[in-house]
Amino acid sequence: MTGRTVIRGGLVITASDEIHADVLIEDGRIAALAATGTPAAEAFTAERTIDATGKYVIPGGVDAHTHMELPFGGTFASDTFETGTRAAAWGGTTTIVDFAVQSVGHSLREGLDTWHAKAEGNCAIDYGFHMIVSDVNQETLKEMDLLVEEGVTSFKQFMAYPGVFYSDDGQILRAMQRSAENGGLIMMHAENGIAIDVLVEQALARGETDPRYHGEVRKALLEAEATHRAIKLAQVAGAPLYVVHVSAMEAVAELARARDEGLPVFGETCPQYLFLSTDNLAEPDFEGSKYVCSTPLRPKEHQAKLWQGLRTNDLQVVSTDHCPFCFVGQKELGRGDFSKIPNGLPGVENRMDLLHQAVVDGHISRRRWIEIACATPARMFGMYPKKGTITPGADADVVIYDPHAEQVVSAETHHMNVDYSAYEGKRLTGRVETVLSRGEPVITEREYTGHAGHGVYTPRSTCQYLN
Ligand code: URP
Ligand code: ZN
Ligand code: ZN
Ligand code: ZN
Repeated sequence: MTGRTVIRGGLVITASDEIHADVLIEDGRIAALAATGTPAAEAFTAERTIDATGKYVIPGGVDAHTHMELPFGGTFASDTFETGTRAAAWGGTTTIVDFAVQSVGHSLREGLDTWHAKAEGNCAIDYGFHMIVSDVNQETLKEMDLLVEEGVTSFKQFMAYPGVFYSDDGQILRAMQRSAENGGLIMMHAENGIAIDVLVEQALARGETDPRYHGEVRKALLEAEATHRAIKLAQVAGAPLYVVHVSAMEAVAELARARDEGLPVFGETCPQYLFLSTDNLAEPDFEGSKYVCSTPLRPKEHQAKLWQGLRTNDLQVVSTDHCPFCFVGQKELGRGDFSKIPNGLPGVENRMDLLHQAVVDGHISRRRWIEIACATPARMFGMYPKKGTITPGADADVVIYDPHAEQVVSAETHHMNVDYSAYEGKRLTGRVETVLSRGEPVITEREYTGHAGHGVYTPRSTCQYLN
């Protein structure tokens, strides 16, 4: 959309500043900011004015970890790119980075092409891709260089899920060595999957089939061990490392120690680990299956250490790992055998609000909220300052956020294509009011005004968080 929009009177919050400013948008980009009430601000003229008095004006959220339509455990994550990106917009997120999957025996290119085909023309907001590398071989390693050049600059490997996504230490080391040369960033699912599979087999043999045993066999120590091993392999390769979905306090300790040694290792956690716990996994009548994801939810005492890690910057990013499966017909595949419950939780719509609640609750500051949810994911994955901040030249991905509105989270009112909410009944202070994506209103005063196909593929540069 061409034309100009001015957002007047709000508190503009970025990772570094909070100022009462008017924001001028032109041709989909931020054109200028000026302190509200000053002659410079009064001189802004536009066809469209948004009154943000009493509201926050924040960068659109950057969710660097989603799985729309992911094939898993014989089924598919229930959000398509269309439904999932629309729900993301409702929740104040304007960019996702989803995971394209290489199937074993196939090339990275085939996997990436498949994901492009799923997303293209269907997204309400902008999107990029990471690449899941399931099959490290000479060809794949060469392909990694090409992908980095064309804007897929991060690669996920799995120390878990033997026989599916799993890579052994040698394959991991090779991919890390390659990324040390080509500038790619290895994202690690750090759980010792070989050991976990032994514990799964033993638990099932004892008749321990309920969802809560998913949490018991996927031990915090096995997350910490894998995190430690990944760090050491990255150190040997001379490569940076980003550990995804960190849930165990012992894993945070591994990251903190490595960072104290000056190593370029980074950690991501997710709202489910900050707000939910093994108490949810233990809910009766198979309700616990709604909370089965990997790494698993942990006992409540881990949460304080995750918040601490977010404050001390031992954890840098909060993404959702949005990977929804309906309770009816999908989570139910694991009745009588927790290992058959598809792994993943819905949350792409809830992240910005839950993290605002963390501001209200005093866990983090407002600027840290924007840093962990917008600015750092954009920097980490090579999209800054186009995404993740409000500054002249940036894409006008802007959220008008009402910090005083009250809401109750519910599957009845959410927009994700899944039949339950992991946060059902939770009261939150703060709510998204209006969302612009490249200047175009996607949500207008809590009405969906976007369209599938507005969102475009966003190629990325290499990690910008290293210097
Ligand atoms: O349980 C999860 N996290 N499902 C999505 C796949 C992954 O490992 O991130
Ligand atoms: Zn994972
Ligand atoms: Zn994931
Ligand atoms: Zn459009």
